[in-house]
Parts: sequence; structure tokens; C-alpha cells
Amino acid sequence: MRDGVVLANPVASQIRLHAEYGGVVPELATREHLRNLPLLLQQALLEARVGVAELDGIAATAGPGLPNALLTGLKAAQGLAYALDRPCYGAHHHEGHLYSPWLAGDPLRLRPEEFEPHVCLIVSGGHTLLVQVRGEFDYQVLGSTIDDAAGECFDKTAKLMGLPYPGGPQLDRLAEGGRPDACKFPRPLLNDPGYDFSFSGLKTSVRYFLRDHPGMLEDLQARRDLAASVQAAIIEVLVTKALRAARATGVRCLTAAGGVACNRALRQALAAACAKRRMALRLAQPELCTDNAAMVGVLAWRMHVGGRQTLGLDEEPRPSWPLGE
Ligand code: KG4
Ligand code: ZN
Repeated sequence: MRDGVVLANPVASQIRLHAEYGGVVPELATREHLRNLPLLLQQALLEARVGVAELDGIAATAGPGLPNALLTGLKAAQGLAYALDRPCYGAHHHEGHLYSPWLAGDPLRLRPEEFEPHVCLIVSGGHTLLVQVRGEFDYQVLGSTIDDAAGECFDKTAKLMGLPYPGGPQLDRLAEGGRPDACKFPRPLLNDPGYDFSFSGLKTSVRYFLRDHPGMLEDLQARRDLAASVQAAIIEVLVTKALRAARATGVRCLTAAGGVACNRALRQALAAACAKRRMALRLAQPELCTDNAAMVGVLAWRMHVGGRQTLGLDEEPRPSWPLGE
């Protein structure tokens, strides 16, 4: 990252490793991070054509997340920062996601002057959040999930349907030829005036539906209909609440990030809803929706420019770290 331009953004995906177990295995994730990190750092510097001595600052995600996975990145960053005598920044994972819709172009660049007050929908495997962004470093979480995250709901229902992990992208593809109104599923908390979400009941409804309709999974069209119907239920809740939040806060711009924001039907539904209300929409590019280094890099750059607090050598990761604290 140099002056808002992303010089390299390598990703070491662990999806294939964890797919074998049907979900993330924390111990394996930590070991994989330990193995990949030095190589990834080397690759990033080579791609960016930058030597370590040229770095102005170092950053890593400090939280929230799996404690040992966070520890791996944070301790490496602190060590590097100490050795080079540079400032070290501890990034908030969700704050990074907030920046990803604002990265655009080739090469990817952040133009902070384009930043305007907005509401961001962060939807991933671990979190579902609606955040009001008044300006840089000025956030308020309007609502979040009280149980399962949206991505978790995609993954768990996909698993019930016999699809491999991670189920979100699989369900997205399967839903393509399905009828979204074929099966009736609940829209949890849709009419609740707040901005919280709840997705665990929806997953249970799918389980009962499959119990009551044995043989459903044998027919391809029936599987497509089921996938499209589950997806429609999740999307309706996300889109309705996001637009309601945007309207209530008076912003003219909605953004979306996190793995689930790759979902094509969600992207289309958000685009249609925003167009209807003449609201600007900024969707993170699909490869920047899922976790990536660029979003942490731009956040770190803004922290560096904005003179934000640096991280001491004795600081530990923050596995549970509410946004805005
Ligand atoms: O942001 P992310 O890469 O990692 C977390 O921080 O969790 O999000 C991963 C989640 C998984 O639950 C995955 O199934 C979901 O994002 N996901 C999708 C799609 N692509 C990824 N869900 C629905 N449709 C997709 N196309
Ligand atoms: Zn994430």
C-alpha cells in the first residue's frame, strides 16, 4: 500500500484445508497461518517491488476473531515493527471490511475524498452487522445478529442439503435456476423495528422442511427451488433492514462487504432497492468481499495518516472487540 494504491494483495486461502472437516478448525488455521505468513510476506514485497527498509509502518488484524489465528499475525507484525523501528497498527477486522467497498480501479486505489456518510452491511461467515459510518473512524453499530451470522445460515442450510463447505457459493450457484417463491420460509425479525438479525430459526425451518419432504433432494429442480427459496428469505431480511437503516439515518449511500456480499442475488436485490430509492450503492468487488490484506492495508494507511494510536509490543489480540471501542 502506497498513498492509497494497493501494490500487492496476496491471499493464502485455507478453504480446501477446512472443507475436509466441513468448517474452520481453529488449530489447523493457526498452524497454516504460521506456515504461510513468512512466504506471503515475501511474495507481497516481491510483487510490490518494495524492500522491508522502505516500509513506513506495519499492521495486522488485532481482532475480533479466533485468538490464536490473530496472535500469529499480530506477533509477526510487532516483531517486524520492532526490528525496523517503525510504528505498528492493530486493525479492527470489521473496520477493514468497511473500507473494501471504497477500493476501486486497476491498480486498486482508495480515494478518501470520495468517502461520504453511509450505512454498511457487513455480512460474512462470522458476523452480520449494520454500521452507520458518519466519517472516518466515526462509526456506530446499528444492529447485529443475535445468533447465527448470514454466512453461517448459508453454510448450515447448504450442509443440510448435502452441499460441500463453504456452502454459500454452492447455494448461490444452485439457486440460479430455482424459483424463490417455491417454498415458504420465515423472514426472522423482518418486522421488528430494530436492526438486529436472527438466522438460526431459518436454518431449523429448512431442517424441518427437509424432514417433511423426504426425496426433495433427489430432484434437481426441487433442489434449485429450495436453494432459491432459502436464499430469498435471507436476502429479503438483509436488504429490507439495510435500506430501513439507511433511510432512518438519512444517508444517501449504502455499501456492502463480507463474504456473503459476493452473493449474486443479494447484489442484484441491493442494486434494485437502491435504484428505486435513488440511493448510491457501493458493493465491494467480489474478491474484496472475502477477507483480504488490501482492506487491512488501506485502513492501516488511514490510521498512519490520521495519527492513530500505535500498538505497543506488549499488546495482545482482542478476540472480542466491539467496533467503535
Ligand atoms: O468474509 P468471509 O470470507 O470470512 C469470514 O470472515 O467469515 O465470509 C465467508 C462466508 C462463508 O459463510 C461463505 O459461505 C459466504 O461468506 N459466501 C457466500 C458466497 N460467497 C461466500 N454466501 C453466499 N453466496 C456467495 N456467493
Ligand atoms: Zn471478514
